Amino acid sequence: HTVEWDPEETGKSGYDHFMLKEIHEQPRALRQCLRERVNEMDGKVSVDVDFAPERVQFVACGTSYHAALFGAQLLQQSGIPAQAFLASEYATATPPIGDDLVVGVTQSGETADTLSALREARRRGARTLAVTNVVGSTAARECDQALYVRAGPEIGVAATKTFAAQVVALTLLALSTGDGDRDAIGALRKLPGNVQAVLDESTAREVAEEYVDSDAFFFIGRGLSYPVALEGALKFKEITYEHAEGFAAGELKHGPLALVTSETPVFAVVTGDGEQARKTIGNVKEVEARDAPVIAVTDGQSDVERYADHVLRIPAGEPRTAAMLANIQLQLVAYHTAAMLGRSIDKPRNLAKSVTVE
Ligand code: G6P
Repeated sequence: HTVEWDPEETGKSGYDHFMLKEIHEQPRALRQCLRERVNEMDGKVSVDVDFAPERVQFVACGTSYHAALFGAQLLQQSGIPAQAFLASEYATATPPIGDDLVVGVTQSGETADTLSALREARRRGARTLAVTNVVGSTAARECDQALYVRAGPEIGVAATKTFAAQVVALTLLALSTGDGDRDAIGALRKLPGNVQAVLDESTAREVAEEYVDSDAFFFIGRGLSYPVALEGALKFKEITYEHAEGFAAGELKHGPLALVTSETPVFAVVTGDGEQARKTIGNVKEVEARDAPVIAVTDGQSDVERYADHVLRIPAGEPRTAAMLANIQLQLVAYHTAAMLGRSIDKPRNLAKSVTVE
């Protein structure tokens, strides 16, 4: 009596989909990304990249653009002027000059729009850096330098572990410009374990069950939670085929609020208890007043839970890693909703893992 092995199924290691497997591989991917790059003794970071730019321009597409938005904020916090561009819109950017660095964030290293923006930057004399998952990819070969995110191969079309690793790699890049930030290093060290805790304890499936029949799904956040809201919505629409949109929390009242009803759950990413949390809670109250169900993705530091119908809890910590942990919850909500709807999760309709046309 023989056992038939389907190689596709074997590759999923018992998970129903590659996406779910890859979501669960994130603690390992992040450990790989951090390995030998941080020194706990002095809090210093080294990513083996020569990085002392005057200004930084990021170019990227899709999920990688959200990682770039996150990276640009972190560089700005480190005192380096930085801006993220959609690669397909880079033609409208002020051309790079002098010691500007153009950073292409691309999981595959093969996205045509990103490659063409990087080529344009090089033509104008800028130095270029590829932040990529694929050693030997076109972006890695053509750029002056490469920073590898080390997430391991990703099969699911919807990027999950590569996004997490990009965000960590960009955080390391930003930290490498400073002279040691022990809090940040400590939080990064704890991140893989905290991701595991979110995976083990998440109630995302119940949330998915409750709201699967909704008209539309909105995601809001500000600061570092803004790219997380955008990514939450992108993941959701990619695999559920439902209408999902991410907004800067403060922009809700400037238009999107017109769409908010009792049939449009709003996922609010609120971390910490500072000014940004307070303001997003103000925006949460605005949607609550329109009877929208509110799902708070929070570390429990603020009182957002008082205004929420559901809470997706993440471990309390430092702002950068809190945003990363919130993203894990949103990946799980998207996954479970798509699974309930019976969607083609690993190969969503009309989408490709790597888009090699402009
Ligand atoms: C495609 C994929 C997205 C990805 C984007 C950029 O559209 O479906 O998941 O974010 O390309 O890919 P890259 O390899 O450049 O990160």
